[in-house]
Amino acid sequence: MPVGAKQPLHSNLRVFRPAYLQLCEKYGPVSENMLDIGLKEYLSQLNAVDDLVLNDMHERAANQRFPIIGPEVGRLVHLLGKAIGAKTVFELGSGFGYSAWWFAHVVGPDGLVYLTDTKHENLADAEMYLERSGLLDRCCTYLGDALVHFEAWNGKADIVFVDIDKQDYPKIFPLLNDRLRIGGMLIVDNILWSGRVYMGDDAESTHGVQQLTQLIRGDARYLWSIVPIRDGVLTALKVA
Ligand SMILES: C[S@@+](CC[C@H](N)C(=O)[O-])C[C@H]1O[C@@H](n2cnc3c(N)ncnc32)[C@H](O)[C@@H]1O
Repeated sequence: MPVGAKQPLHSNLRVFRPAYLQLCEKYGPVSENMLDIGLKEYLSQLNAVDDLVLNDMHERAANQRFPIIGPEVGRLVHLLGKAIGAKTVFELGSGFGYSAWWFAHVVGPDGLVYLTDTKHENLADAEMYLERSGLLDRCCTYLGDALVHFEAWNGKADIVFVDIDKQDYPKIFPLLNDRLRIGGMLIVDNILWSGRVYMGDDAESTHGVQQLTQLIRGDARYLWSIVPIRDGVLTALKVA
């Protein structure tokens, strides 16, 4: 190669190959991720949070392969929540309280986060983690079907966060009319559903995700954007 000529990019891969293979082991093949795995690692380091309880939750999620929103989406919802001054958050599908930890920081000591889950053990653990973080007094847990609790709820939310079984996603849409304030945000996790949304997958869960996406897309009351981080996050501002 003449002096000064640029090396083809792929030749760098040989140099970085051991590191690259290590990352493949950690994250799986590139095709299973929306981001190049090098960038994924870079972001993972940037997004790390120095908090003992949160990191216990990360470890537990990794050990049990429990799907949590993770720090990238956590930072996004934190930012969005603060931007609209959210004080009341209703979560549908709280698991062991990871996403609620972020929302509890959004609402502050005078706000309220409603957690819902069908599993008692999840909510008991959520209470334990939130207590350890000094956040439990701004949280309220409802055991059972989140849709039933949300329908019975007569409050007005600044944020509605959706992370329940995906086939039930469209059922949330009519409930938002009276329960999400104008100027409030709908945030929906797993809106890209590992790519199944475009693969012609016929599962009920995939149809559920697609239907809610189309409902929001077709409703002029919502300004929306899909943020393709992790498994995709739908963010929608209710403007009317
Ligand atoms: C993906 S996990 C939630 C993770 C959580 N949002 C986080 O990021 O930390 C989904 C949870 O929703 C619960 N779930 C699923 N369908 C539900 C429903 N209809 N009502 C209440 N909880 C539900 C499951 O038990 C599970 O704990």
